Amino acid sequence: MHTKLAKDLGLEFPVFAFTHCRDVAAAVSKAGGLGVLGVAGHSLKNLEMELEWIENEVGDKPYGVDLLLPAKFAGSERGGFDASQMDERIPEEHRKFLDDLLEQHQVPPLAKDVSLRPEFAVGYEQQRDVIELVFEHKISLIASALGPPPPWMIEKGRERGVKVAALAGTVEHARRHVEAGVDIVVAQGYEAGGHTGTISTMVLVPEVVDAVSPIPVLAAGGIGNGRQVTAALALGAQGVWCGSVWLTTEEAETHPVVKQKFLEAGLGDTVRSRSLTGKPARQLRSAWTDAWEDPSNPDPLPMPLQPRLVREAQARIQRTAHNNPGSHDLANYFVGQIVGSMNHVKSVRTVMEEFALEYADTMEKLDDLAEG
Ligand SMILES: Cc1cc2nc3c(=O)[nH]c(=O)nc-3n(C[C@H](O)[C@H](O)[C@H](O)COP(=O)(O)O)c2cc1C
Repeated sequence: MHTKLAKDLGLEFPVFAFTHCRDVAAAVSKAGGLGVLGVAGHSLKNLEMELEWIENEVGDKPYGVDLLLPAKFAGSERGGFDASQMDERIPEEHRKFLDDLLEQHQVPPLAKDVSLRPEFAVGYEQQRDVIELVFEHKISLIASALGPPPPWMIEKGRERGVKVAALAGTVEHARRHVEAGVDIVVAQGYEAGGHTGTISTMVLVPEVVDAVSPIPVLAAGGIGNGRQVTAALALGAQGVWCGSVWLTTEEAETHPVVKQKFLEAGLGDTVRSRSLTGKPARQLRSAWTDAWEDPSNPDPLPMPLQPRLVREAQARIQRTAHNNPGSHDLANYFVGQIVGSMNHVKSVRTVMEEFALEYADTMEKLDDLAEG
């Protein structure tokens, strides 16, 4: 698995792990891959602590960060809305629907002393502090999702020797990212967890590889074992970018109820829904997604109004999912179709070792095929 990109980044394996969990990021980097911490929704102070913790854990091994930098969102033409402008744009009908949904499922209110996680800021300028903070750390890679990185982020990457990557769900996105100056394109297919387009990984990756050559491409979406890693490299990718497979690892801080649901889910148990973020994102199907998909209910609002609308409801569901059957039914999270193959809790190191062993085994089988 010695691709040029892996060599340039000092990796033993070209395995890039998107995760919101610092333990997973550090464990992947320590096992020879590259852990990439998703920083959406962190306060600056908390982010600084997370990055310092990872650096202490990984020592000289490389790690990276990922930001949500949507090109289009409600209010993007005017640089974004402030909190009160967002609140004015959330219709009463949506608030009522959500209140009724929680009442039907008997989801208790939050205790008075519970504070909600910070909202993730949308807009380049709104994220400038975060981007400046991550560049003060020893990151080797910074990735942008939902839109191309701004020119000043690319410049900072060049100055500091940090590779800049961007996620693409179409060939057009990939070309736009390369025009913006990225060093790596992550071609992410339909089967992926989180925000995703409509073209499958099998179809997308070779098209993107050809369109942006010689810029290296990572394959993302539906990669959860060594055969899929081998297939990604066969499609011309220089590595794999995985998100879902880490969610059922020992290190992952996935909500225990959701982790159990993931372990039991089948290949067809995910849905692309706008119900959590306002943009289509693949997630586990649950009573939550069913309610939002029902045509007799209101449509989800655009980003960032939908996440603002559902933030408190989601906190209420998560806090009570272990002991309230209604919350348990509603609970879900982002995950890809590969969830159907995630049937056992394993350590990150085991996942990495299995990737490497199955890759070697598959290559041997392919050699046998070629030799007849
Ligand atoms: C729980 C979860 C959250 C995600 N959040 C982000 C994110 O904030 N930024 C991002 O670039 N990609 C995000 N993604 C997508 C991943 O970066 C990755 O492309 C995707 O998980 C690959 O497909 P897979 O889930 O089949 O491995 C997320 C994926 C998951 C599963």
